[in-house]
Amino acid sequence: MQIESSLNGLRARLKSWRQQQQTIALVPTMGNLHAGHLSLLEKARTLADKVVVSIFINPLQFDDPTDLAAYPRTIQADIQQLSQSECDLLFTPDPDLMYPLGQANQTKIQVPGVDDKLCGLARPGHFDGVATVVTKLFNVIQPDMAIFGEKDYQQLLLIEKLVTDLNLSLNIVAAPTCREADGLAMSSRNSRLSEQHRQKAPMLYQELVQIRDAVLAKSNRDYAALCQAARERLTKAGFDVDYLEIRNENDLENVGDSDIKPLRVLVAARLGSVRLIDNIPISLS
Ligand code: PAJ
Repeated sequence: MQIESSLNGLRARLKSWRQQQQTIALVPTMGNLHAGHLSLLEKARTLADKVVVSIFINPLQFDDPTDLAAYPRTIQADIQQLSQSECDLLFTPDPDLMYPLGQANQTKIQVPGVDDKLCGLARPGHFDGVATVVTKLFNVIQPDMAIFGEKDYQQLLLIEKLVTDLNLSLNIVAAPTCREADGLAMSSRNSRLSEQHRQKAPMLYQELVQIRDAVLAKSNRDYAALCQAARERLTKAGFDVDYLEIRNENDLENVGDSDIKPLRVLVAARLGSVRLIDNIPISLS
């Protein structure tokens, strides 16, 4: 595996691949790699000739400086994992390379229709930061495709919209959420949970499954009541619930109780200082 942190080195490598007509898949990450990230890599490997992984803890997408400071930085362990997987090139730019004139002077990409809902409301500026860094990575690497996890579902829709709106010529590929044996969605943030909170955390997924099953069994189509009851159970168990909602899967807009498809149930909640998110589809036929 080649490691590049400069644009010149990166471009030389990519150019030679393109001359050999090799297709390139990009997996953007912020490091602290776990099996969820590696599953994106495996998917990339089945779809393209060459796999590029980027690791960049993007300061522009952190609305909370404490969260940025606490974000796990494990580059040596990440390199170790990647060199044992099928990654061809790791791109690890410095903030100076991504934001040469500083964050405040950076041209920003703003995708309409995301800041006014779900994680957009709780994290002002977050999605502008994601859209900006991902656009820059697409420009620098010019991949044929990029893989994103459904775990960050709102982010996935944002990237798909970005690609359509800016007429970018790459394919966005979605990969399913990888979970721990107890159902907790894998996340770099899980390592920051106390032992007690780690034991509670799978309840998030259990509540999503319970809602999905109630809707699918047609025993309950009162979406608002289902979500409210789940929010109350989570609050009682010690979660600070930001949102738990059933939404239209295509645009994350609100749905009425008679709307049957396509739906997704999404949750964000804090355990102590750790904010966890999760979601699953509700496939009604
Ligand atoms: P990060 O949180 O490191 O996630 C990188 C990619 O891994 C994202 O596409 C995310 O959805 C996916 N991922 C995370 N946990 C997963 C899981 N349990 N199962 C499957 N996929 C999972 O998301 C970001 O970084 C950043 O916002 C980024 C897109 C890199 C822009 O800075």
